[in-house]
Amino acid sequence: MWLEKLRLQNFRNWQEKDFSFHQGWNLILGPNGSGKSNLLEAIYLLAQGRSPRQIRNSSLLRYQTSVAYLNAWFKNNQGAQQQLSLELRRGGKKYTWNQKTITLPALARHWGALIFLPRHLFLLHGPPQLRREFFDETMSIYSPLYRQKLSAYNHVLRQRNAWLKKGGREKEGQFWNEKLIELGAFLICQRQFLRQKLNQILASWNLKLEYCPSPRFLSQIFPPEGNWHLDEVASHLREKLHLLQEKEKLLQQTLIGPQRDDFVLWGPLGKEKELKNLTLFASRGQQRLAIIRLKLAQLNWLRAELSFAPLLLLDDLFSELDPAHQQALVNSFPRQQLIMTAVQLPPHLSPSAVNIIKL
Ligand SMILES: Nc1ncnc2c1ncn2[C@@H]1O[C@H](COP(=O)(O)OP(=O)(O)OP(=O)(O)O)[C@@H](O)[C@H]1O
Ligand SMILES: [Mg+2]
Repeated sequence: MWLEKLRLQNFRNWQEKDFSFHQGWNLILGPNGSGKSNLLEAIYLLAQGRSPRQIRNSSLLRYQTSVAYLNAWFKNNQGAQQQLSLELRRGGKKYTWNQKTITLPALARHWGALIFLPRHLFLLHGPPQLRREFFDETMSIYSPLYRQKLSAYNHVLRQRNAWLKKGGREKEGQFWNEKLIELGAFLICQRQFLRQKLNQILASWNLKLEYCPSPRFLSQIFPPEGNWHLDEVASHLREKLHLLQEKEKLLQQTLIGPQRDDFVLWGPLGKEKELKNLTLFASRGQQRLAIIRLKLAQLNWLRAELSFAPLLLLDDLFSELDPAHQQALVNSFPRQQLIMTAVQLPPHLSPSAVNIIKL
């Protein structure tokens, strides 16, 4: 299924505007402040139910308005048209699919979108929260169960930290520990599963993802590229929590678990044969290309697993890349629908290969 037409009403700077897209590559060209990022944000919101900038509904409404309408028309593989609508108000969102109300998990069975934003360029050297978000975004699109367990885990973590702040009395401790262990082990095993899958794709660029779970010793006792078993991970978590109980009470916070996971990307640099930690050694341009490839691996994996190819949205990706890196980037674009933005036509993108939309 591909996005054919979009109508935005009262969304950000767009009062009322129609856009038409092609099935292949689309390029939105416009000067700074012309609404390129807002357009991609609207498409992402339609697909994932939230803004990639993680802000309130009220900021998405055009200034001094109280309701926005986003309408999208798709073509499926048989050529039939499907329509998705979103009514957005300060207090909530209402989605309809072919004129019938639909929930987000049900919508996720029809289509999805992945976005690449300038802030993702901090993925390697920015805070670990960004890297965990990458795992969580990918797994949540792949599996509604992961999404559900992640939100349950976050709830348990908040409750457990509140319990530690109140002195961590024995009685409730057992309950919160077991919940944390059960859900935490699930998330760790799923992230390990994703690491394995992405590494199979990243290998073609000689890139390698290293998963650094919390507690760190897990990555020493379990095979880096193998399956990790829920029961074994859970029993290690249980042991470690037991050892840490006094320290946790003292510091009044949970000290291990997937909320402290991280990952490192390894890759080739220059003529060196040995793979290098790209956070420590890669230049900004090299990091940028590696991050884009990580996102492409994410897309390729999801595309193989889901019944549809998620639409790829690329915001302002070409700036800062030299011609060779721009060329490498264009060469790695997937043959599917993608919508990208730029201030000017990137020299390595032939105008005949893209549908150009000028703002
Ligand atoms: N809620 C809103 N209502 C009206 N206008 C808004 C709202 N939120 C943002 N804007 C305006 O929308 C305009 C376009 O912003 P956007 O980020 O999409 O530009 P852009 O084309 O991506 O620019 P750049 O090339 O600098 O990234 C900005 O001038 C911004 O002030
Ligand atoms: Mg922008």
